[in-house]
Amino acid sequence: MQITKAIFKCSSERITQVPKDALRDIAFIGRSNVGKSSLINMLTRHGGLAKVSATPGKTRLINHFLINNSWYLVDLPGYGYARTSKQLRGSFSKIITDYIFKCEKMHFLFVLLDIRLEPQKIDLEFINLLGENGVPFGLIFTKADKLSAAQRNHSINRYKSTLAEHWEELPPHFISSSEKQIGRDEILDFIEKCLQEG
Ligand code: GTP
Ligand code: MG
Repeated sequence: MQITKAIFKCSSERITQVPKDALRDIAFIGRSNVGKSSLINMLTRHGGLAKVSATPGKTRLINHFLINNSWYLVDLPGYGYARTSKQLRGSFSKIITDYIFKCEKMHFLFVLLDIRLEPQKIDLEFINLLGENGVPFGLIFTKADKLSAAQRNHSINRYKSTLAEHWEELPPHFISSSEKQIGRDEILDFIEKCLQEG
């Protein structure tokens, strides 16, 4: 898929404020600082679209970006950062659970994982929550530029075996680097198919 137009549409504090049209959302979530906003900028080739910060907790609202006038890329607040909201570490804020479970626009969710880290409790908790509730999702391993090819494989295989303890089928997964523009075509092609499937 080619992205020819990407514009910021709105920021929502709660799901009653998300756009009221029938266009579908492809959303990105993960721990604070995992690289959600950077990935959205990489995919859209629009450096300043989503706000990037070295300080965790930058994205606190649901941000809708209208793509090609036909669907939305959605930047969600990070989880696992205690100061972003009243929630405690290890649980998920209401804005996140409302969006993923109640928002009809939500068509597919990408969970971002830092490729350098071993499986983290909070990510596994979140992935299990999605699986148990039948939310369609895939995984994106971010910051691949920080590892060698061998280290990347090791990290992904470690993740696969951890997930295989609970799940028979593994979700679709991708490797990305916003620094080095890795994974862009694969992710965009997947999104295209996902939107075609209805
Ligand atoms: P919150 O909005 O706080 O939840 O963070 P986020 O997940 O949106 O992360 P963001 O895109 O703001 O990036 C966090 C930090 O990681 C920034 O310093 C980015 O420059 C850095 N970063 C993001 N993606 C990559 C990547 O692919 N490679 C490298 N090396 N650094 C990255
Ligand atoms: Mg962000």
